[in-house]
Amino acid sequence: MITRNEYHVPVLLEESIEGLAIKPDGIYLDCTLGGGGHYRRLAEMLDKDGIVIGIDKDPEALKWVCDHPPYVKSQMLLEQSKFSEFDKVLKKHSIKKIDGLIIDLGLSSRQVDNPRRGFSYKADTPLDMRMDPQSNMTAEKIITESSEEELSGILKDYGEIRNPQRMASAIARFSGKERIATSGDLRKCIENEYGTPVKYKVLSKLFQALRIAVNNELEELRTCLHKAVEYLNKGGRLVVIAYHSLDDRIVKNFMRDYERKCVCQPYEPICKCNRPAVLKRINRKAIRASVNEIGRNQRARSALLRICEKVV
Ligand SMILES: C[S@@+](CC[C@H](N)C(=O)[O-])C[C@H]1O[C@@H](n2cnc3c(N)ncnc32)[C@H](O)[C@@H]1O
Repeated sequence: MITRNEYHVPVLLEESIEGLAIKPDGIYLDCTLGGGGHYRRLAEMLDKDGIVIGIDKDPEALKWVCDHPPYVKSQMLLEQSKFSEFDKVLKKHSIKKIDGLIIDLGLSSRQVDNPRRGFSYKADTPLDMRMDPQSNMTAEKIITESSEEELSGILKDYGEIRNPQRMASAIARFSGKERIATSGDLRKCIENEYGTPVKYKVLSKLFQALRIAVNNELEELRTCLHKAVEYLNKGGRLVVIAYHSLDDRIVKNFMRDYERKCVCQPYEPICKCNRPAVLKRINRKAIRASVNEIGRNQRARSALLRICEKVV
């Protein structure tokens, strides 16, 4: 028998759905459909006038959810899209405003566990790492087509790797002699430079950096958050689950900035901008998964949930 959790076990499910403060006849957007865990629960909370739209870059996620639909009264829509372009999806369905939006960042277990997708350094797989298999950037291309300086920037900004210059230069030297096409090749290159066994943390930061670059993840997130402010109704909620500090920092700063009223320069004695607070944070500290949930699902260990409400 197929169980829904075969694709992905949803993280912080109850907390994030509660965070959306759902109105049964509202319109909700799940920006990261994955195996549809959050999407399904959302759909169950709505009545026949409610609408839930699920989007994902990865067509496999859409197919999975299409093949395993929940039996609910609400209207359910599915579209393949980047979440930075969710406005185009709303326009297609003549939807002008929404009551809530959820972003559950990162990868689904299905993506990580599929060796052909190349996300894991634990197996020797092609260096692909595309969430959208139709996009033309792969991790192999980043490695072979970036200059040493560009690679060093990627390792520093997206992997927070100490001495990124050393790693970039080792990769450039190695790829000048041998092709780096698989995670095994890349591991060999790193072992040549740092010795064996290479630390798990080094490889995980390197793979994180490449994955973020391939999928333009940080820019995607920034764009989506800013559009969320524009499209949410007053009282609408934004719920974000991040799994690493780079994503969480963007979310935290974004929510804090929109909660501030005045954006005048500190040297201006009187406020001229008259900007009202746009968002109100529902939780100041990120919500983490319970020990129970982590016991059931290791992936929940690093999850950080932030919730805010549009107040104008
Ligand atoms: C952690 S999974 C979501 C899991 C889902 N909440 C569930 O309960 O099954 C993240 C999903 O977001 C998708 N994704 C990541 N970045 C995206 C983006 N910029 N645009 C659209 N989808 C994206 C990935 O392809 C992946 O399927």
